[in-house]
Amino acid sequence: MGKDKLWRFSEIKRFTNVTEAPFSETFPQKGKWKEEIFKNDKPIVLELGCGKGEYAVGLGEMFPEKNFLGIDIKGNRIYIGAKKALEKKMDNVQFLRTRVDFIENFFEEGEIDEIWLTFSDPQPKKPRKRLTSPLFISRYKNFLKKNGLIHVKTDSDILFEYTEEQIKEEGYKCHALTWDLYGSFQNKLTNSEKEIFNIKTHYEELFASKGSIIKYCCFEI
Ligand SMILES: C[S@@+](CC[C@H](N)C(=O)[O-])C[C@H]1O[C@@H](n2cnc3c(N)ncnc32)[C@H](O)[C@@H]1O
Repeated sequence: MGKDKLWRFSEIKRFTNVTEAPFSETFPQKGKWKEEIFKNDKPIVLELGCGKGEYAVGLGEMFPEKNFLGIDIKGNRIYIGAKKALEKKMDNVQFLRTRVDFIENFFEEGEIDEIWLTFSDPQPKKPRKRLTSPLFISRYKNFLKKNGLIHVKTDSDILFEYTEEQIKEEGYKCHALTWDLYGSFQNKLTNSEKEIFNIKTHYEELFASKGSIIKYCCFEI
């Protein structure tokens, strides 16, 4: 492992806005995120597979009335977002380093208000591992509040087509769906909604530079 990666791993251990937790044990602060970790009573929004946490930090700046929690397994990526949030003295942004596969061990029923899936791995050969698969949706149901929204922003045709099928098959209430987020769909958006989509993640920049068309949907489970 590179020196820089090792250094970032040791740094996040000192960060007050990063929690590292064993994958498969029930989390001691399950049900107490607001009280013990954010130390406020604001609703909590998750960014799953957050990488460098551009959405957690960007939305955190736009919506100080909400809490944002970025989750990823890669500590060296979380380091970037967590450092930014610390430098900006943001008290509504936290990060959790763990595997999303064990996510229901971390939250109590109704503890989470919203979920963002930003450029999640499309898992071309393992549909079950997609973050919008029935397996993952059943996990989210354990803690996402009633009417809580799931947002999916992706470059991947495979993941997006699959998600659209899940929405139809399972009868999820779809609030928005576009195969070209930055096309004519923009005309339907308010300025503040446009601002939300103007947050660009590392992978979005990467895929967009190669000509990928960005897709977006938002639904209730
Ligand atoms: C394609 S990257 C997208 C990162 C970021 N959201 C972006 O748009 O730049 C997918 C991210 O999901 C994370 N990831 C993949 N599988 C995971 C898992 N099982 N648990 C937690 N994170 C995972 C990876 O570490 C990676 O940072």
